[in-house]
Amino acid sequence: MSQHMPNAYAADDIPSTPGKFKSEKLPYIHRLRWYSPLSKLTFWSFLLLFLIFFFVIASPPTSSPSSSPPLDSSRRSLRTAAWGGLEWERRVRLSARIRGGTTPHRNNNLRNGLCVLVTGAAGFVGAHASMALKRRGDGVLGLDNFNDYYDQSLKRARQSQLERVGVFIVEGDINDSTLLQKLFDMVAFTHVMHFAAQAGVRYAMNNPDSYVHSNIAGLVSLLEACKFANPQPAFVWASSSSVYGLNSKVPFSERDRTDQPASLYAATKKAGEEITHSYNHIYGLSITGLRFFTVYGPWGRPDMAYFFFTKDILKGKQITIFEGPNHGTVARDFTYIDDIVKGCLGALDTTKKSTGSGGKKKGPAQYRIFNLGNTSPVGVLELVKVLEKLLKVKANKKILPMPRNGDVLYTHANITLAQREIGYKPTTDLHTGLKKFVRWYLSYYSDARKKGSW
Ligand SMILES: NC(=O)c1ccc[n+]([C@@H]2O[C@H](COP(=O)([O-])OP(=O)(O)OC[C@H]3O[C@@H](n4cnc5c(N)ncnc54)[C@H](O)[C@@H]3O)[C@@H](O)[C@H]2O)c1
Repeated sequence: MSQHMPNAYAADDIPSTPGKFKSEKLPYIHRLRWYSPLSKLTFWSFLLLFLIFFFVIASPPTSSPSSSPPLDSSRRSLRTAAWGGLEWERRVRLSARIRGGTTPHRNNNLRNGLCVLVTGAAGFVGAHASMALKRRGDGVLGLDNFNDYYDQSLKRARQSQLERVGVFIVEGDINDSTLLQKLFDMVAFTHVMHFAAQAGVRYAMNNPDSYVHSNIAGLVSLLEACKFANPQPAFVWASSSSVYGLNSKVPFSERDRTDQPASLYAATKKAGEEITHSYNHIYGLSITGLRFFTVYGPWGRPDMAYFFFTKDILKGKQITIFEGPNHGTVARDFTYIDDIVKGCLGALDTTKKSTGSGGKKKGPAQYRIFNLGNTSPVGVLELVKVLEKLLKVKANKKILPMPRNGDVLYTHANITLAQREIGYKPTTDLHTGLKKFVRWYLSYYSDARKKGSW
């Protein structure tokens, strides 16, 4: 009972009409009560004027073209000072310009080159894909919120590398529908290459909301912008091999079941596949989902085993290696970044156009899902052996049973479909790929200036 007492007092303080304010709390208003009717009239007139001012002048404009997505006011808070202004607009247009062409505008037909919005462009895969697209002459605009899931200076370093080849990364969140609308108003993207996500399996145990924010809400926000864009872009995005979850049939084929996720991360990627399907079905968006298998390489992600093993081995720190039940090997189908990027470009180049316009479907649209793996799983112990050889340092290993934290024991891709449909053909074995990674790592971390290059 006593818990409820303060609320009872608080309720007592709330007046049922303005005249009921208690004198000791608001003496001025109390005094007004005893003045002439003229004073009352003056008071209410001021109040009315104030309300008119507040709603008419202070509120943002509500008009939005019928073909544009409605603005969600709850998301305006995502807007940061990091975007907007004439100089910013100039950089957006320049970055999105196809080599030898101009930035495609709403009513222009494109004859050559793609104009791609790359989300998560400051991330590992996004930065590599943006670089490859720009180098072959496509227009590329990046979008990234530079979150602090891992070392932000690495994201900034990737950004500087991209700036050198003319890729501008807009700083913003994919949940910011106002920003997305602005970008789609400025540039007629032919494609969206969507990498922005909360990656990592184990972090979901600390921060589950970040997965919902980026992988579910953010995805929907981006698809909404694509659905209203005119022309609608084709949408290619990063799903994950983790959708195979507890599936034990190997190698994993796109036809295998994916309804037993082992982590929240996997569940959000699976949800993404269903969500994109619904936008394909209802609004005619052309969709391609790519299930990446453990991507590694230069400029990689510090939260991944090959990366932090390298760091810890060099520091002489003990590394923990997990094993499955009955000392079973934990293995991954490690896939080198350049092979993944070729797969992404192959996917972009074979998309069919979206069929909708003005938020309405005009006909059936393409929907595809492909595995992008290496087809040769390697045990984690073997990975460490290769690193020891390349680093010329013996690792101090501790072997423990794998905890139940969302990781799966084994991944192995069947890539027949991707081979046939998008010409995907990985060519880098683990030793060759790790050699390139180690070379980059040593150069990047050799001094404070982070001098690694692409
Ligand atoms: N690297 C892998 O092994 C692997 C495997 C399977 C799937 N994937 C998927 O591939 C994609 C790229 O992975 P990565 O390894 O490059 O990860 P990454 O973390 O390096 O890149 C993701 C980028 O997205 C940005 N981002 C996150 N949420 C955002 C938001 N709400 N708005 C704007 N930007 C946001 C981050 O700042 C980051 O730079 C992800 O979708 C990931 O789930 C990666």
